[in-house]
Amino acid sequence: MANRLALVTGGNGGIGTEICRELGRAGCRVVSTCIDPEKEGIEAWKKSLQEEGFDVDWVQCDVSDFDACAEMASQLESSHGPVEVLINVAGITRDSFLHKMADEDWNALMDVNLSSVFNVTRQFIKGMRDRGFGRIVNISSVNGQTGQFGQTNYSAAKAGIHGFTMALAKESAAKGVTVNTVSPGYVHTSMTDAMPEEVRNGIVAQIPAGRLAEPHEIARAVGFVAAEENTYINGANIPVNGAFFCSF
Ligand code: CAA
Repeated sequence: MANRLALVTGGNGGIGTEICRELGRAGCRVVSTCIDPEKEGIEAWKKSLQEEGFDVDWVQCDVSDFDACAEMASQLESSHGPVEVLINVAGITRDSFLHKMADEDWNALMDVNLSSVFNVTRQFIKGMRDRGFGRIVNISSVNGQTGQFGQTNYSAAKAGIHGFTMALAKESAAKGVTVNTVSPGYVHTSMTDAMPEEVRNGIVAQIPAGRLAEPHEIARAVGFVAAEENTYINGANIPVNGAFFCSF
């Protein structure tokens, strides 16, 4: 992967940061999107990864906004060159039972978690096809596979992500572009920290591994499918959930 440019949406989050490290170890130059550089402390994030030896940078972009993504892509490719690896990680939760859910919570979640995958991927797919090489990994969730209480919005978006993956893989396979999904289980991040404690404890009790995943355990799977050597795993979903949900 020497010197290939990787873009990771939400690359400064809990799982995103470990994905940046994993791709960095594989030799990529890595760029993360962020929405609010000040609030997210993105310069400090960049400095700390650079001190670890990684070639990282960031671009400001609201991935839920198609025009902002087009602008970001054109600036990024002029300053850093073509994006050859794209990892769509950015996501939020707006948990609520459906009978209490506000339409803002449905729409915001769909925009950030699902439309963003279109908004960003649309900017780079043609270049990948034209150059005959690309690696796209979309981060879904076990809750897209099983459904979860309080997450009709999140479960629908995460299931939709894998539909997108499968369709785009079919369009791309003959052009040297692979498109895969990684579906984490419950991971130790600020997202699971925000869950009601008794709900989180109840879920951990059902995970055969007996604990939450650590972000680097998800990043390992992303690095595996994003690797240059991965030429034939395409349109697949790779679950990483400690045997919480096993399927054929
Ligand atoms: N399993 C079984 N029962 C549940 C339940 C669950 N997971 N969640 C809630 N319930 C039950 C409660 O026990 C309660 O039952 P009773 O009425 O008999 O007491 C009833 O549903 C109502 O629950 P609440 O009082 O908590 O209702 P609420 O409206 O305040 O909140 C909720 C409901 C939004 C679902 C809240 O419980 C919640 O936030 N749950 C966590 C949802 C979740 O798992 N989010 C995952 C976040 S991490 C993530 O998304 C990352 C990833 O990819 C895995």
